[in-house]
Parts: sequence; C-alpha cells; structure tokens
Amino acid sequence: MEPVSSLVKTHLPNYLANLPIPDSIGGWFKLSVKDWISLIPFFSVVGGISYMTYRTIKPKHVINLSIEKEEAKVVHVANIEDLGDSTAYCRCWRSSKFPLCDGSHGKHNKETGDNVGPVVIKKK
Ligand code: FES
Repeated sequence: MEPVSSLVKTHLPNYLANLPIPDSIGGWFKLSVKDWISLIPFFSVVGGISYMTYRTIKPKHVINLSIEKEEAKVVHVANIEDLGDSTAYCRCWRSSKFPLCDGSHGKHNKETGDNVGPVVIKKK
C-alpha cells in the first residue's frame, strides 16, 4: 500500500499544485504554449474519466413504456388469413390497441419531433 499512499498523498497533490492553472478567466489567455502542453495529460485524464462516467450513468432508452411490461418479451402473432384488405401495425409502441396502430404515433411525433408511423400490410 505504500506506493498507492505515496501517490495519493504526495505525488498527485504535488503534480496538481504545479499545474499552470490560472486564478482568473483572463489568465487562460496568458498561458504559454509550454503551459498548454503541460495541461494536456491532466485534461486528457479528466476528459477520459468524465466520458467513462457518462457512459456508465447515461440513461438507457426504452421504447416500450407501457405495453405488457410484465412479459419478458412482447410477441404477437397474426394469422395472415385474418387480415383484412389493409391492416396497420404500430411501430411507435404508443397504441392503446397494440399491436395495431390507433394513430397515437401522431401525438408522439408532435411531442418528440420523431417521425415514426405504422407498417401497413395490404392485400394488393
Ligand atoms: S399508433 Fe404506433 S404507429 Fe400508429
């Protein structure tokens, strides 16, 4: 543990204390090229840690908000013989008649700027 302790308690604080970080916003414009080069490793590490943190905690996007949530997978089977001349199937997952389209995609598109719509199966 001695190397870790030394790194955290001595070397890292010394490194950070010696970074040419200015005390004011105007000071950033007065940094030399050498100063900017010495800041590259610091900002690379900070950027890397920030990116990895974002990747870890960013919200997962869910398509299905309410349909058969108790099921592990939502599956519907349609018999082609039962289809009428034209049947519209929902692809936005907002229909109250899911898997059939009830036009709810229009409201969803208006609220979100999305452009989803049904798949329409037609007999010739
Ligand atoms: S209601 Fe979902 S595509 Fe029409």
